[in-house]
Amino acid sequence: MAAHPGGLIRVKGLTRVYGDRKVLDGLDLELAPGEFTALLGRSGSGKSTLLRALAGLDPDVAGGGTVEVPGEVSVVFQDARLLPWQRVLPNVVLGLRGAERRGRESLAEVGLAGRERAWPNELSGGEQQRVALARSLVREPRLLLADEPFGALDALTRIKMHALLRRLFEQHRPAVLLVTHDVDEAIALADRVLVLDEGRIAAEQRPGAGGPEARAETHAEIRARLLTALGVTAGV
Ligand SMILES: Nc1ncnc2c1ncn2[C@@H]1O[C@H](COP(=O)(O)OP(=O)(O)OP(=O)(O)O)[C@@H](O)[C@H]1O
Ligand SMILES: [Mg+2]
Repeated sequence: MAAHPGGLIRVKGLTRVYGDRKVLDGLDLELAPGEFTALLGRSGSGKSTLLRALAGLDPDVAGGGTVEVPGEVSVVFQDARLLPWQRVLPNVVLGLRGAERRGRESLAEVGLAGRERAWPNELSGGEQQRVALARSLVREPRLLLADEPFGALDALTRIKMHALLRRLFEQHRPAVLLVTHDVDEAIALADRVLVLDEGRIAAEQRPGAGGPEARAETHAEIRARLLTALGVTAGV
């Protein structure tokens, strides 16, 4: 993994094979600094595989293409992955030295001020995910990867968490790549929505282009195009 001088996150010709199955097949992708991108794709299309490669968590991907990520990468998974034997604040600043004050600030940003000394199992699922978000933020990532981070939460909590993620993104401006299966949430949240299919980026839409009014007008159109790319018949 190499740093790119322009701050751009760049994937070129990424190929990942499991057995005789090519999950990623010469995939190209660029993510601009400070851009919020949502990634859609059928189950098994390779979304998590792509995120693992971007996070540098897949050593076997090295031979198949290049991945350039400048600076720190943080990942938020579907489960919070907190250490149960550590309280909330140590979980947030895990592996960092002298980061207690920043850890407290991050917890306040996700609405958990005052819960620093709680144990993970004293928190709800949504609260645990907020701790995971704080843990990501405190590292000031240039790239925040989120793999269906709120998929296990109820619909209402998920909507609130997505709004929180968007707010945090606007304050900290990392590049965000959010895997979600919800087309409407992707359109509502992201500057750019991608569909992964057959090992490549098969469709791209920019719901935010033209401001909020244009976003509302074209929502249905964009939704239809994305659903078509996902192999779902629109309008049903
Ligand atoms: N370690 C592995 N060994 C073998 N096959 C794997 C491995 N990891 C992933 N795969 C296969 O690669 C394909 C893509 O998996 P991946 O987890 O990236 O899909 P996904 O798009 O994230 O799906 P979902 O939406 O269900 O999370 C799947 O067919 C999966 O079975
Ligand atoms: Mg996945």
